[in-house]
Amino acid sequence: MTADGTVRGRPDSAPPPAGGTGGPERGSEAARRATFHRLERATADLEPPFAVVDLPAWRRNADALTRRALAKPLRTATKSLRCRSLIHRAERLPGWHGVLAFTLPEALLLATDTPDGESGITDVVVGYPTADRTALRRLATDPSARERITLMVDSVAHLDLLESVLGEVGRPDPEPPLRLCLELDASLRLLGGRAHIGVRRSPVHDPASARALAEAIARRPGLRLVGMMAYEAQIAGIGDAPAGAPLRALAVRGIQRLSGAELRERRAAAVAAVRAVTPLEFVNGGGTGSVARTAAEPAVTEIAAGSGLYGPVLFDGYRDFRPIPAAFFALTVVRRPAPGIVTVLGGGWTASGPPGRDRLPLPVFPAGLRYLPTEAAGEVQTPLVGAAARDLRPGDRVWFRHAKAGEPAERVNRLHVIDGDRIVEEAPTYRGEGHAFI
Ligand SMILES: Cc1ncc(COP(=O)(O)O)c(C=O)c1O
Repeated sequence: MTADGTVRGRPDSAPPPAGGTGGPERGSEAARRATFHRLERATADLEPPFAVVDLPAWRRNADALTRRALAKPLRTATKSLRCRSLIHRAERLPGWHGVLAFTLPEALLLATDTPDGESGITDVVVGYPTADRTALRRLATDPSARERITLMVDSVAHLDLLESVLGEVGRPDPEPPLRLCLELDASLRLLGGRAHIGVRRSPVHDPASARALAEAIARRPGLRLVGMMAYEAQIAGIGDAPAGAPLRALAVRGIQRLSGAELRERRAAAVAAVRAVTPLEFVNGGGTGSVARTAAEPAVTEIAAGSGLYGPVLFDGYRDFRPIPAAFFALTVVRRPAPGIVTVLGGGWTASGPPGRDRLPLPVFPAGLRYLPTEAAGEVQTPLVGAAARDLRPGDRVWFRHAKAGEPAERVNRLHVIDGDRIVEEAPTYRGEGHAFI
């Protein structure tokens, strides 16, 4: 499992994914083809490589996530979008509120009003701890940012660091104080802690440790605890219906049932223990893969979600919610090394996490293309084989889906947002705006 909770859906020994699965409008080959023809018409004037977001699919994904959240607000996970315009679009959806950012410099960008009068986002939780003293100094000296941004903490060491920055800028006791969110570890520990199922995030696992940290925060005048977060990666980030792996599916479901039951009790107890010390504005949990399950926990007040809007390949293997693929990228065929093989320029848009075939982009259109096992997705060129390769010529396009949601935005300067058969927006990515936050 990776630090963000996704796991390898296909074992390394499995054959490379065949193209043609998991396209838009799942289940209907004709509808899938119609969607790609529509995307082709909309992007006819573009030169690959380029990436698109298909708005009709995005909207349906947003609606499906909203319905699953059981009237609790959804907080947009920005790492899964990495494009300001689409983050704002998500954050303004009915039933959605605030963002879960991934770095403090990013949070400062999102929370700041733009010179042309657009209001910054007023509720930005940084979902991971920060040790960026430069950004912390900016936060410490900006009252408006301090009202809008909440920092993640999981230890007294974090509190010490924050206090030392406050001291450095001569504001040991700012008004408003720094807003903090306490991260509770959501992993499942078995065999007296010898088996750890989940990701390695916070060391705060039990209600007593959560309470102790809340008390430590309460003793520090420059800091105020306003929220709690626990991300159950072993549930939200692991598909319980992996294709062609029925035994694995059974194992995943069993572990997720066990973990869900354990977490429900422990999270409720930890939230109660912290609330006994400090009132909380929010308790955040879950992700795209667990929206309905997490929303059903009374202790949770809001759910984080982002990937479900784009619908990347790693989210194909879930029973409860399979987002419609809404994000694609296109590459150009540049040569035919042999009959039955075509080579596209570029292609190595592999995803983070434990290296494996499930981290590769999936060629989806034309259907029936797959990688050569000896080369897979290459740095500057990618050979593809399969029935469709016979008819492809230099200059033709191949469409891919990325394994993960946010990472393709690090490859392109803009996302072409498509509605119907035209481009309705050229949305700059973080990279396109010159930001390398991570
Ligand atoms: C803290 C946290 N919450 C939620 C999520 C889920 O985001 P998504 O909906 O994009 O899977 C993540 C993803 O890694 C996360 O780190």
